[in-house]
Amino acid sequence: MLGLVTTPEGKAPMELRELPEPVAQRNEALVEVRAFSLNRGELRSIRNNGEGWVPGQDVAGIVVQQAADGSGPPVGARVVALTDEFGWAQRVAVLSHRMAVLPDGVSFAQACTLPVAGLTALRTLRHGAPLLGKRVLITGAAGGVGTLAVQLAARSGARVTAVVGRAERAAGVKELGAVEVIEGIDAAKGRFGLILEAAGGASLARAIKLVEAKGVVVVYGNSSGEATNISFADFRGAPNSRVQSFSYFYSEAEDRFAPDLALLVSLIADGSLKPQIGLERSWREFAAVAEQLRERRVAGKAVLVVD
Ligand SMILES: NC(=O)c1ccc[n+]([C@@H]2O[C@H](COP(=O)([O-])OP(=O)(O)OC[C@H]3O[C@@H](n4cnc5c(N)ncnc54)[C@H](OP(=O)(O)O)[C@@H]3O)[C@@H](O)[C@H]2O)c1
Repeated sequence: MLGLVTTPEGKAPMELRELPEPVAQRNEALVEVRAFSLNRGELRSIRNNGEGWVPGQDVAGIVVQQAADGSGPPVGARVVALTDEFGWAQRVAVLSHRMAVLPDGVSFAQACTLPVAGLTALRTLRHGAPLLGKRVLITGAAGGVGTLAVQLAARSGARVTAVVGRAERAAGVKELGAVEVIEGIDAAKGRFGLILEAAGGASLARAIKLVEAKGVVVVYGNSSGEATNISFADFRGAPNSRVQSFSYFYSEAEDRFAPDLALLVSLIADGSLKPQIGLERSWREFAAVAEQLRERRVAGKAVLVVD
């Protein structure tokens, strides 16, 4: 089978190569991958890994071999799955409890936007529950996690302020349910019960000054790579607020992956969650797509189709 392999010394960052077929453990199904999505974090992992690694966490496709222990969806099921790695290939072994069956009408391209970004959006927002009537500030709102988080927060009754980096990134964000879209976090007014922050640096410093008493700033990334200086005095005016670190992978119990993925695909099916696919291309065009994502030119998610 073919897979995308890291080639740090090569001309392109990744190369399509012939690979051995995956071997499934007893609790793993084999999935024929039809589409996968890219995450900013994976762009970093590609740089940090040596020759010959196959990345890939977000896959959607068809079960071609059910897990030998009888768990998980049967052969022929259309599924979305979260994998640790190896998903950017024609076939991948997937833990049967990290997948969900796609309702009719949910496409592979839509579904593959969900595992990392959708779980992150859903689970970061849970730190602010209940959201009904709460002011929620979401940085990186035009990005992969952000476009999903804005919709989920608005659907839960939050009053969402969406932060984008520049004017052209605002296109379509208000329609996702934000009450306001602002250019840069410095333009935010008032205080917020929940802040989702992944830019880091000055953005995180400002976020801490915008949280309300007993509110929470969920820190789930550092896209800028910049450090943040904070001091106790920054929490003046927001007593007992907190800064919460977050990892989508460890934030909830292992057996919650399938139910959360099933919830997210059901929201697509009923029309209340619309994945924003800013770029959809053949996986043979990986290099160009990765470049656009790195340069913050993808509105929402970048999807690659395994053709
Ligand atoms: N902890 C976890 O479990 C977890 C899970 C998923 C993702 N993450 C992290 O969360 C971040 C967002 O992920 P994503 O997939 O949504 O990425 P993405 O699609 O690239 O979106 C990131 C957004 O952040 C904004 N941003 C602000 N400052 C930035 C900077 N200096 N460099 C790059 N982007 C900047 C960009 O918006 P503008 O262009 O409008 O400024 C961009 O839309 C990444 O750092 C990722 O590694 C963490």
